Amino acid sequence: MESVGEYSVFDKIGGRGAVHLVVEQFYDKVMNDEKLIPFFENADMQIQRGKMKAFLMMALGGPIKFTGKDLRHAHVHLVKAGLSDEHFDKVALYLDDVLEMNGVSIDLRETIASVVEQCREAVLDR
Ligand code: HEM
Repeated sequence: MESVGEYSVFDKIGGRGAVHLVVEQFYDKVMNDEKLIPFFENADMQIQRGKMKAFLMMALGGPIKFTGKDLRHAHVHLVKAGLSDEHFDKVALYLDDVLEMNGVSIDLRETIASVVEQCREAVLDR
């Protein structure tokens, strides 16, 4: 759980509504990147967006549970198909772009980036 002062990051960026908007805009960017598109070929994007919303809410200290083990399990076949730091960096950058576009402060963006960074080893199965 990440928190800043007495409010979680989740509260500070505007709660559930803000996370929904951010994830929608985030996947619009991801799905416009030809290096990332192939990884999503077999994914149901509606389910995907929903899961990512749940995950982000939890990662930012919102009222929801999600486990790190699922993250490794969810991406291991993608690592076998070539998923690497290069792709992870792009995904992290798009998320930060969208947060910036929505006026999230640099302090909060740095906190969120550190939560994203904590996922790297699991997502890349290391
Ligand atoms: C901060 C890094 C990331 C987070 C937090 C994240 C989060 C998630 C979550 C929560 C799921 C659903 C897990 C489940 O099914 O229960 C998922 C699945 C998936 N992720 Fe990620 N992800 C990250 C990085 C990436 C990257 C870099 C890629 C590829 C470029 C990617 C591609 C996918 C795909 C294709 C699936 C669906 C797998 C399937 O349904 O077969 N993810 N991710």
